Amino acid sequence: FTAPHPPYDPTDKSGFSYETVVKRWPIIITGVIDTLHQACHQLSLQSNLNAGTDSSAEVSNVDVQESTRKKIKEATGIIEKLSKLKYEMARDKPLVLIPDDGEPHVDTYNSELAALAKDSRDTWFTAPWLFAECYLYRLLRSFFVQTDHWASIDPFQEQKMKTFAQSGKAIYQIATTMHELEVDRAALRADPEKLGVLFNEMIQMCLWGNATDLSLLTHLSQEDIAHLQSVGKEARAARSKFILRGDEDAVWAHIKGLEGKEEAQKRVDFVLDNSGFELFTDLVFADFLVTYTPYVTKVVFHPKLIPWFVSDVTPPDFKTTFDALEDASSFFSSPTFSPSDSETTHMHTMVSRWQSYLASGVFSLSVPVETPLGGGGKDDEEVKAAEFWTSPYPYWDMRTRSPGAFESLRGSGLVIFKGDLNYRKLTGDVAWPAWTSFNEALGPLAGSFPLLSLRTNKADVVVGVEKAVAERLDARGEKWRVDGRYALISFLGLSAG
Ligand code: F6P
Ligand code: MG
Repeated sequence: FTAPHPPYDPTDKSGFSYETVVKRWPIIITGVIDTLHQACHQLSLQSNLNAGTDSSAEVSNVDVQESTRKKIKEATGIIEKLSKLKYEMARDKPLVLIPDDGEPHVDTYNSELAALAKDSRDTWFTAPWLFAECYLYRLLRSFFVQTDHWASIDPFQEQKMKTFAQSGKAIYQIATTMHELEVDRAALRADPEKLGVLFNEMIQMCLWGNATDLSLLTHLSQEDIAHLQSVGKEARAARSKFILRGDEDAVWAHIKGLEGKEEAQKRVDFVLDNSGFELFTDLVFADFLVTYTPYVTKVVFHPKLIPWFVSDVTPPDFKTTFDALEDASSFFSSPTFSPSDSETTHMHTMVSRWQSYLASGVFSLSVPVETPLGGGGKDDEEVKAAEFWTSPYPYWDMRTRSPGAFESLRGSGLVIFKGDLNYRKLTGDVAWPAWTSFNEALGPLAGSFPLLSLRTNKADVVVGVEKAVAERLDARGEKWRVDGRYALISFLGLSAG
């Protein structure tokens, strides 16, 4: 499918893409370099310590020191590649080919690069933004996967967990809300009107969960994040005026319509975005749908197979999130926060319910939870389908580019696409006028399955907003497309809207 508008790229210096290449990517790459430096520092401290200990250990000190030396050497190699990448990016050099590292999409990225080169659009300041950004994370992955020691390392993992650990206040508050629902579960399930009101709160909580992705942390302070996570009614009401498109009533009507459908259609899919707080809000929303409404019986979560856009959920993240929640009272305790006894009980009840859902298949990850980064070389259908989420393709080409991914969603009662990047891929990241219908912007994907996008605006592309509203915001000079303060709830059912 070819859209009638050009893709966003950094040749427009007023766009967010330009700022991204100039500022945000270099900061992210520098962060990875720092992480590796720190890891090496730890390794050498450890090895010095070992050197001082008793030599009767089973693995001799010489072996340990040799292996440490090798790890550090490999890390130094990655750091060199990262530094070169930063240098080339700043000087608008061409994007280099992805090496044949045994992981998916080498040809996909490289053939697109060849096509761009023919057009002289294969450099950091000329390549389409969506393509270049996906390429960047695939290239980073290649640096790691070509080593022995670092192939299963996610350079963003620590950052993801650290930020999650700072979300205790909001997380416990939500667990308590869920506990309050539990008290009148039976009455709720039989009261569609009350459920509708709660649904609105849940969908908004899940939407604003997207405000805290780490690739934006390059300009958000910890205080900003705490503010974005505040979940009280007032905070939510204050934010609702920032929702520029609100299809929540149509979504709710659609979900209610799932009652009486075949079991297979009472399924909701989440194409996940970020790990940590956002994933937690996804799980809460999923829990609400299966526990308190009679309309949904199963939820499938779709992760990324490689470290992606800093904070996206990988299968290891999904597992560590559950580990953290299982041990929530120590994981979230900090000098400024510790949960009360009743909060601890509420959290425990909720997380135990989620675990039982995972065990019984009510909740599932689209690939086995143990799937290692990169997919572990598996050819299983689900792993192949999941590879699509780290390709650079717009979703209007999903059916042709990845029949597996397409089929995995077909027949779902509702597919929820979380976050900004998913939105960019849904709309192809091209310069649609903001008042283009969501239906038109989805191209051939429209009508394939009922589709909901929950997105806080962090990139230029926007559709489905009234012309007068868009023009007013533009006239005020607001950065409403990119500053993360505004959001969209966009829904399209099976028939075009
Ligand atoms: O850097 C590009 C970008 O897509 C931004 O638009 C956004 O800030 C971020 O990456 C990803 O956001 P999200 O986690 O919501 O997909
Ligand atoms: Mg993300």
